[in-house]
Amino acid sequence: MAWLRVTLKAEPGLAEKISAGFEDLGAIAVTLSGDPDTPIFDEPEVEPASWTTVTVSGMFEDSVNVEDLLQTLTKRNDLKDLPTHHIESLADEDWERVWMDRYQPIHIGGRLWICPSWQTPPQPDAINVVLDPGLAFGSGTHPTTQLCLSWLANRSLTDKTLLDYGCGSGVLAIAALKLGCQQAWGVDVDAQALVASRDNAQANQVADRLDLCHPDKLDPALKVDVVVANILAQTLISLASNLIARVSPGGTLLLSGILNDQAEQVAARFDHSFNIQRRQQEDWSLLVATPKTGKIEEN
Ligand SMILES: C[S@@+](CC[C@H](N)C(=O)[O-])C[C@H]1O[C@@H](n2cnc3c(N)ncnc32)[C@H](O)[C@@H]1O
Repeated sequence: MAWLRVTLKAEPGLAEKISAGFEDLGAIAVTLSGDPDTPIFDEPEVEPASWTTVTVSGMFEDSVNVEDLLQTLTKRNDLKDLPTHHIESLADEDWERVWMDRYQPIHIGGRLWICPSWQTPPQPDAINVVLDPGLAFGSGTHPTTQLCLSWLANRSLTDKTLLDYGCGSGVLAIAALKLGCQQAWGVDVDAQALVASRDNAQANQVADRLDLCHPDKLDPALKVDVVVANILAQTLISLASNLIARVSPGGTLLLSGILNDQAEQVAARFDHSFNIQRRQQEDWSLLVATPKTGKIEEN
């Protein structure tokens, strides 16, 4: 089947109404996007940045009568004219196939590769993590994941223990285990993430060294050498006491998922008892936190 994509730009209030109209009128997918220089992230407790113009795009079966559709939208919103729009005809594609072809092996820090499970690793003798993210976040392509992977790949992790808080596909815990960690734990609030992590751990022959569970089920006494949490700034701040409590004296806490302009705010929540170094990749910062003293204060 072929598809029609109808795209137009509007101020945010009207864009929301048109998006709802597209859905009512049978769109199989609707996307809203703004100025690429003003990313908007769906984070709790944060007022979203505001776009001045929003692009609305609706995908319809090509049998839809676009003229009728646009007239209905114009009447519904009491408009004289609809904003300028354009209509594209899209050939049918196997969208999953397209995504799979675009997802290529990623080389991190000299010795580590993250490879889609359906491709042959380019360097069979390297440390290869074969990955199928499934429905979970964590293909290894995002800068927030790469910042963590790069830190891990440049450390001696032999016999260390690691907690991956918000494990998604399990990419960080599995990479750490393949880099020499003795034991890892992965927790996630999303059940799909735990399934994907388990499957990926099995595919990488590390399932016997990775314990996976909901965060509430984690042993309260567990402390590890490395805690890595790639979530979002506000979540990291909310989870601070929890994360701090998991770091062994002399351990390291990696905080990722932080936009550059949020880094100071997150660091301020942890710097009472941690020395913090910051690394950046594109718009994102990784905070590498090491305890100031052997005893980590929790507040
Ligand atoms: C950005 S993904 C990171 C996935 C993977 N660790 C990576 O680095 O690519 C964040 C993950 O954290 C999980 N998450 C969000 N809030 C959480 C919370 N409060 N506790 C545990 N996991 C959480 C999400 O379900 C998601 O799988």
